[in-house]
Amino acid sequence: MAKVTLKNVDKVYPGNVKAVENFSLEIRDGEFVVLVGPSGCGKSTTLRMVAGLEEISGGTIAIGERVVNDIPPKDRDIAMVFQNYALYPHMTVRENLAFGLKLRKFPKQEIAARVDEAARILGIAELLDRRPKALSGGQRQRVAVGRAIVRKPAVFLFDEPLSNLDAKMRVQMRVEISRLHNQLGATMIYVTHDQVEAMTMGERIVVMKDGVIQQVADPLGLYDRPANRFVAGFIGMPPMNIFAGHIRSDGETLVFEGPVGFRAPVPDKDRAALAAYRDRPVTLGLRPEDIGSAAAEQLAGAPRIRASVEVIEPMGSESYVYFRLADVTFISRVDAHRKFRVGESAAPAVFIGKAHFFDPATDRRIETTTS
Ligand SMILES: Nc1ncnc2c1ncn2[C@@H]1O[C@H](COP(=O)(O)OP(=O)(O)OP(=O)(O)O)[C@@H](O)[C@H]1O
Ligand SMILES: [Mg+2]
Repeated sequence: MAKVTLKNVDKVYPGNVKAVENFSLEIRDGEFVVLVGPSGCGKSTTLRMVAGLEEISGGTIAIGERVVNDIPPKDRDIAMVFQNYALYPHMTVRENLAFGLKLRKFPKQEIAARVDEAARILGIAELLDRRPKALSGGQRQRVAVGRAIVRKPAVFLFDEPLSNLDAKMRVQMRVEISRLHNQLGATMIYVTHDQVEAMTMGERIVVMKDGVIQQVADPLGLYDRPANRFVAGFIGMPPMNIFAGHIRSDGETLVFEGPVGFRAPVPDKDRAALAAYRDRPVTLGLRPEDIGSAAAEQLAGAPRIRASVEVIEPMGSESYVYFRLADVTFISRVDAHRKFRVGESAAPAVFIGKAHFFDPATDRRIETTTS
């Protein structure tokens, strides 16, 4: 097992395509790190550089204490699982699992022991004599993970391994991979564009955009304190609501003055940081569960936004209510039994203490730094 250290890593593809820029990250031994971001942000390139499948244009990558910049993939002690995990169709599951070890000239007994162990861990022992054709998508994916497990690598690399599976199977495999991580205690780097996968699986999450790291944090750290508007919008479903407005002083206090009559006092915790923004524009972010939810409605004297109900989406346990206020729309997550009618005017309460403030000039989070 090993830690993985990337220092100022760059990747420029021919044609001057800057795929990854100045990527620095230390992944602890045994950690589960997820790289997440929209298509083309450089996730696979980063992973492939760790694997040695892609040359790096600058910086260093170390696995354990060893810099691997010039070490070929087969000597890096890593195993990679891809989205397209082509299994050998003419081989049984057992042969597929054993193949990599055979190539490496492992003794027969050792191969058999490792295949049996991987099969047990993944719950595919009864499938060992089948061919891939006779497996479901999820079972095939398990075999692909099994091929990595038998190698007992120091580091597992996953590149969107679940995207070919249907929604239900994805959830199931997500849990299985998390369980596998707990069981093996190996270092794992997992790439996905799906923020739900990132949030549910990662001990730490690296959010990327245009080849650049936006934020590195644990799931709740990302959710509760997104470093900028990109992260705020990328993590969380439905996405965070955004209101443009200004900070004004109101006697001793500061207020946020938003669109059409929406005014809210600046919470105590943000007052120091926002003092510098008096009479300047700021962006207010509010998660859907912080508008019109039971928690918001129970607050005495909570500010309200008067708006009209445009669409209601019942999700079962809760409903998403889409509101419109002039040219601004926002979404509220409310208890499913709270009745709204399309077209009516309502004034959901705002949990202003949960507000996020961003500087519209930089899109960075504005907050009082406590240390
Ligand atoms: N072989 C290549 N030659 C030139 N440009 C490339 C090459 N491979 C990737 N790129 C570019 O590098 C950037 C990052 O690509 P990468 O595959 O790392 O993105 P990604 O985050 O994995 O995206 P996705 O979610 O779509 O898989 C993209 O702009 C892509 O077009
Ligand atoms: Mg990719």
